[in-house]
Amino acid sequence: MHAFCRTLVAAGLVAVVGGAQAQGSGPDLAPMPESKPGNAAMIELGRYFYFDNRLSGDWGVSCATCHNPEKGWGDGQALSTGYPSMEYFRNAPTVLNARHQRRFLWDGRLDGADAGTLARDMITESHTMNMDSRLMQERLKQVPEYREMWAKWRKDDINGMRVYSAIGEFIRTLETVNAPFDRFKKGDENALTAEQKNGYALFRGKAGCVACHHGPIGSDGNLHRTGVPEHPEVLKNPLRTITMLRHYSTSGMPNYMNARTDVGHYAISKNKRDLGKFRTAQLRDLKYTAPYMHNGVFSTLDEVIDFYDRGGGGGSALKPLSLSSAEKQAIKSFLLSLSGDPVIVKDPGQPDLQVWTAYGKN
Ligand code: HEC
Ligand code: HEC
Repeated sequence: MHAFCRTLVAAGLVAVVGGAQAQGSGPDLAPMPESKPGNAAMIELGRYFYFDNRLSGDWGVSCATCHNPEKGWGDGQALSTGYPSMEYFRNAPTVLNARHQRRFLWDGRLDGADAGTLARDMITESHTMNMDSRLMQERLKQVPEYREMWAKWRKDDINGMRVYSAIGEFIRTLETVNAPFDRFKKGDENALTAEQKNGYALFRGKAGCVACHHGPIGSDGNLHRTGVPEHPEVLKNPLRTITMLRHYSTSGMPNYMNARTDVGHYAISKNKRDLGKFRTAQLRDLKYTAPYMHNGVFSTLDEVIDFYDRGGGGGSALKPLSLSSAEKQAIKSFLLSLSGDPVIVKDPGQPDLQVWTAYGKN
């Protein structure tokens, strides 16, 4: 490359595609948008519910067990433990930036606009919190503090649907803050190092990541087959195989008993085109959310980048990238610039149960 071009690339002014300069058009990553604050009383209740393990069948787990603020709002494991004695077959992803997901869950089975429904599914699904909605409602009514907090928000009694929407509203407040990439996009040229700017150019150019990873959280919200290898534990551990098959069975997937690998969105659409397709993962806060991919099969970003460098796995349309080790390193440093400050929310503790005697009087 001409020395002058190299300077431009290092300054992040142009991207490089196979040695040629790319135009500044096409999809790109964007800074985090400003979010309007929601209803404060609703969010505060949502925060209490998020940390309260009485929302699970056996009082064993809360949302925070699997989406722990101190572990990047995930659980730090490759595969989720699931509800006690369950063992799930996929990774527990971060809940950060749920507000900006077009679809929820690794196989994209839920609409990203509906965080309340997602919270309901997490609570009532036997693999996660295994809770009956009416039982939850009656338990929460016997907590005087919750009745008081509820009255600040609404005039009716505590009810399941609203509990879900309060949790949904709470998780919508959890967003990436102060990431170097956002400062760079807002005009601070020094927020990224020269290596990171080079990584950004590769991300948009030679490495082609931007085709699927764009917008504020680095996800097109679409389904793609990248051919991520199966995590061996899913078939070695019968408990994990069981949750996988049970998920397929409840989704109505034909011939599900023969499945020996995660079929992704196919279980939902039953369309062969969707075999092995997963929703594009977001690239925000990767600093805190290892291991990576729907089954946590890669422990480090180096492994993820090596995977793409090889052209992904079986059945994917990805091509090998022939990245040098310096280029891989640059992409990795760039990816880390999309991570912000740790988002820590305090566990408010669980106010005690106390039988509600005077119905209607509080
Ligand atoms: C026992 C562990 C466990 C508990 C408890 C749990 N989750 Fe999850 N959560 C998971 C797993 C595993 C997934 C991914 C499931 C899949 O894609 O098949 C997930 C997915 C999610 C997602 C989707 C994120 C994305 O990238 O699309 C959100 C949001 C979420 N959970 C929020 C919650 C909330 C809110 C609660 C409490 C009401 C909760 N979870 C309780 C394990 C758990
Ligand atoms: C064809 C679309 C596509 C392209 C191109 C692509 N990705 Fe991905 N990416 C995905 C999908 C889909 C997932 C989720 C795959 C899964 O979990 O099985 C993913 C997952 C990831 C993850 C894991 C995030 C997490 O939290 O688990 C990282 C990191 C990543 N991609 C980085 C990159 C980089 C770097 C490039 C360019 C070298 C790239 N991707 C190119 C679609 C793509």
